[in-house]
Amino acid sequence: MIFFIDTANIEEIREASTWGIISGVTTNPSLIAKENRPLLDAIKEITELINGPISAEVQEGNADEMVEEAFQYARMHPNIVIKVPMTFEGIKATKRLTSYQIRTNVTLIFTVSQAIMAAKAGATYVSPFLGRLDDYCESKEAGAELVKDIRTAFDNYHYPSKIIAASIRHPEHVRQAALFGADVATIPYKVLRQMIEHPLTTKGLALFRQAAQK
Ligand code: E4P
Repeated sequence: MIFFIDTANIEEIREASTWGIISGVTTNPSLIAKENRPLLDAIKEITELINGPISAEVQEGNADEMVEEAFQYARMHPNIVIKVPMTFEGIKATKRLTSYQIRTNVTLIFTVSQAIMAAKAGATYVSPFLGRLDDYCESKEAGAELVKDIRTAFDNYHYPSKIIAASIRHPEHVRQAALFGADVATIPYKVLRQMIEHPLTTKGLALFRQAAQK
């Protein structure tokens, strides 16, 4: 499973990139807004830090508007992937961008049928939102079940779209994404850190340190 980092924060991206395990970045309007800086500047700087797919989201609108905005992003850097919302117009925009060989990430996916529609439109990636679905269903498994079912559906019909497990809240979501066959997990910086640290590792190291001093 490939890891993307789910943030628009340059320091977080810079730090995580030094670990050598981050293959791409996903942003969204909320993540960019947190950074209080012009959107295009943020995207450009991210492309300079990570040599891999960088998702930049178009604003919801009609297909013409989304395709126009997508062209702006796509012109910035060959690694840009256009994040398109899962709407009727978003599906039309995805189909058109696919015909121009511009890669897309259809976002805000909450059902298998939405994922199939996105795949049929040629989406490079589909992003089921695990955390938000779990919250909505008041369940710890709803997001994981969705990933599992999309995996089965895509495998049944050999859809080439890649599944990005998104809206990840904790390492358990990454475990579920890995077990159920997501191609990619896009992970917030805080969760990436939690995937490395463990209290027993810290405790074990302290004990080894003491032993070494003896
Ligand atoms: C994915 O591409 C989105 O940016 C992200 O995972 C949304 O997650 P949230 O539910 O934490 O906002």
